[in-house]
Amino acid sequence: MGVMSSTSPSTTPAFALSGRAVRTGPQPISYLLKQAVDNPELISLAAGLVDYESLPVEPARRAMTAALDEQRGRRTLQYGTTAGDAALRQRLLEHMAALDGLEPADLHATADDVVIATGSQQLLFLLTEVLVDPGDIVITAAPSYFVYTGTLATFGARVHCVDMDECGMVPASLERVLARLQSRGELERVKIIYICDYHQNPTGLTLAADRRGRIVRVVQRYSQHHQMLLIEDAAYRELTYEGRPPPSLKRHDEGNRFIALLQTFSKPFAPGLKTGYGLLPRALVEPVVLQKGNHDFGSANLCQQLILEAMTSGDYDRHVAALCRRYAQKRDAMLEALNRELGGFQPEATHWTRPAGGLYIYLTLPPEIDTGPEGDLFRRAIREGVLYVPGVYCFAPDLDREVPCNTMRLSFGVCSIEQIHEGVARLARAIRAVATGA
Ligand SMILES: Cc1ncc(COP(=O)(O)O)c(C=O)c1O
Repeated sequence: MGVMSSTSPSTTPAFALSGRAVRTGPQPISYLLKQAVDNPELISLAAGLVDYESLPVEPARRAMTAALDEQRGRRTLQYGTTAGDAALRQRLLEHMAALDGLEPADLHATADDVVIATGSQQLLFLLTEVLVDPGDIVITAAPSYFVYTGTLATFGARVHCVDMDECGMVPASLERVLARLQSRGELERVKIIYICDYHQNPTGLTLAADRRGRIVRVVQRYSQHHQMLLIEDAAYRELTYEGRPPPSLKRHDEGNRFIALLQTFSKPFAPGLKTGYGLLPRALVEPVVLQKGNHDFGSANLCQQLILEAMTSGDYDRHVAALCRRYAQKRDAMLEALNRELGGFQPEATHWTRPAGGLYIYLTLPPEIDTGPEGDLFRRAIREGVLYVPGVYCFAPDLDREVPCNTMRLSFGVCSIEQIHEGVARLARAIRAVATGA
């Protein structure tokens, strides 16, 4: 019998993971994806994926062919710069200004203030990386985008949540949270206010025009020791199906000093390109680009050239217009199905949002129905063949608040209209069964 060597598998000590790695839990979406894989018959109203049929294969092919032509092909296949292609950055500045009906100069910014990234998620990560040390405070809405909540956990941020109503984040609630932190002597730790202001993930709600100036003024009033960063995550801005979206928060940033406006090609064009962009406060461009140098020293040039081509040819705008028509039908189908299936179900306690754009509807059920992943409804819904995102995933842990357990996010993005009708019917069956104890 040999003596066990010091390298035998049973005696190899564990790696000493970094604080960041230890703080990083699995994203809820991995669990939901596993449910979908384990139950192939499931209709997933959980997935935040975009509509499959309308993905822009032809426009992308045309743009790729142009980007790889004799003249430009080699440049397209070469490394680019860390902040992104200069011509595309200029185009994106014009694009963001045009969405506000402005010229670039009106935004007090130049193309040097635009950074292109591997998805807007990378910019969320980078901005947090340059501002947040463990124990620092980030303020978000309740509920909020859960992937960013995970990022905040990784950085060891403490999160404080602000109320939302039908008109988005409530300025008076933001003020109360900041005043409370000030009275505790913690204002110096507040680094970021994060707002997804157009057709929010997960509620589909948009921050009303008349709240925008007030929110900005509150942030500025409390930026006494240092400048707090307001992140305007406008991932769903271009997916507006009804009315005109309100002007950006960024418009209130005279001199480009404290608001980062983040947008992406993932939702309005193709997530496979994984390309996002941000108009950043001038003082944060260099710190962000330096960190991006550590990550990847530049996002894929191939994707950037394809996008530049699609924007220049007009294919991008045409695609967004067609996509909005398609999603409007899907949203209407989900609202119709909810009305039909749940319209008469405990109406004083059951309600849902009616978004003017984006991909999500947020459903609130009577308080005794637990929508959580360990609750009866979640199991029952899977048995009926439908998946949703439990609302508890969308609330960052905040010691000052209780998390409601009776909400869920429903997405109408990836399912067909038939699947939306069938999925909501299955969900309603599960809800009625749980409510009656059947
Ligand atoms: C609110 C919000 N922000 C940012 C992102 C990140 O998207 P991407 O990194 O693909 O640009 C998403 C993706 O779902 C989102 O919902």
